[in-house]
Amino acid sequence: MTLRRNAASFNAVDLVPNVLRGVADVDLSTTVMGQDIALPVYLSPTALQRLFHHQGERATAAAAERFGTMFGVSSLGTVSMEELARKHSNPQVYQFYFHKDRGLNSAMMQRAKAAGIKVMMLTVDSITGGNRERDLRTGFSIPFRLTPTAMAQFALKPAYGINYLRHEKFSLPQLDAHIDMKGDTLTIGRYFSEMLDPSLNWRDVEAMLAEWGGPFCLKGVMSVEDARRAAAIGCSSIVLSNHGGRQLDGSRAAFDQLDEVVQAVGDRLDVMMDGGVTRGTHVLKALALGAKAVGLGRYYLFPLAAAGQPGIERALAQMNAELLRGMRLMGCSKLSDLGHDALRYVPSER
Ligand SMILES: Cc1cc2nc3c(=O)[nH]c(=O)nc-3n(C[C@H](O)[C@H](O)[C@H](O)COP(=O)(O)O)c2cc1C
Repeated sequence: MTLRRNAASFNAVDLVPNVLRGVADVDLSTTVMGQDIALPVYLSPTALQRLFHHQGERATAAAAERFGTMFGVSSLGTVSMEELARKHSNPQVYQFYFHKDRGLNSAMMQRAKAAGIKVMMLTVDSITGGNRERDLRTGFSIPFRLTPTAMAQFALKPAYGINYLRHEKFSLPQLDAHIDMKGDTLTIGRYFSEMLDPSLNWRDVEAMLAEWGGPFCLKGVMSVEDARRAAAIGCSSIVLSNHGGRQLDGSRAAFDQLDEVVQAVGDRLDVMMDGGVTRGTHVLKALALGAKAVGLGRYYLFPLAAAGQPGIERALAQMNAELLRGMRLMGCSKLSDLGHDALRYVPSER
């Protein structure tokens, strides 16, 4: 339900263009959490990218760098944050899951700091695992279990299997020192239920903020009350998100919450959103409601799976072209020209 709602949410509003504004030059750059980016979209952190394509996070970071934007590395990433920070100069966000093991949490923060990562993004919508029915059906786990269905899939996509075996052994470099996967498989459900700390609360976040001492973002906030609290404890930003519909099914779409939240806290922290974004005009609608930047998930994951780095670059080139075209047709030459006036509710949606 939530996956579909995310995609449909942008259809509730129409864009109202202005004309004759002289839009020969369009500037798509912005600053979010103190990071300058050339596009108002960033590649949201996602887990296990080397399962999608053997280049994994290497492709994501490099494609984001080519387009001058920010990317996130997941706690469940399959390439180390240090390697990516060494190779790339574009802003990198470290996505943090809060573990029961406080020593692991501190060690992760220290590593991120030592790697020169500026932005910490704590995901707060995953206090327990979502009910991922497809994962249950397929028996998805890391490393792969060679079930008959999995073997049939490998047989159908031999290049994938060959690449999987020819490249370095699958690992979770952000966590390797802290989990023992030998002789065992880790399912995402088990990771969430056994390793993450369901007692996580606002006091823990305040302590993390103090320990980190730099730009700090909460990902997965939805209510106005939580947004106010995030601002009060000094977060630099929040991402309105329902985790791409993978956590609380029946959750409201982030785009539908955006207006209320920006009205409440938009002058105190950077509000971002993600979920269901597949078009430049979706991004323009979110910016018009006051989002500082918009996160992409599946929009870059599918092209990563299909073609690695060139796939993500092609997707970002299309996004860039759609944003430029959309801005010109809206009569806007810079992102701050987009405001509330650019939107009206579709009559049937009122
Ligand atoms: C396969 C997959 C893995 C994800 N892994 C993570 C993760 O490790 N940490 C996290 O904070 N969000 C994760 N997300 C959520 C994304 O960061 C983002 O919030 C979501 O994908 C946005 O929705 P969209 O896919 O419709 O763009 C994941 C999403 C997908 C589809």
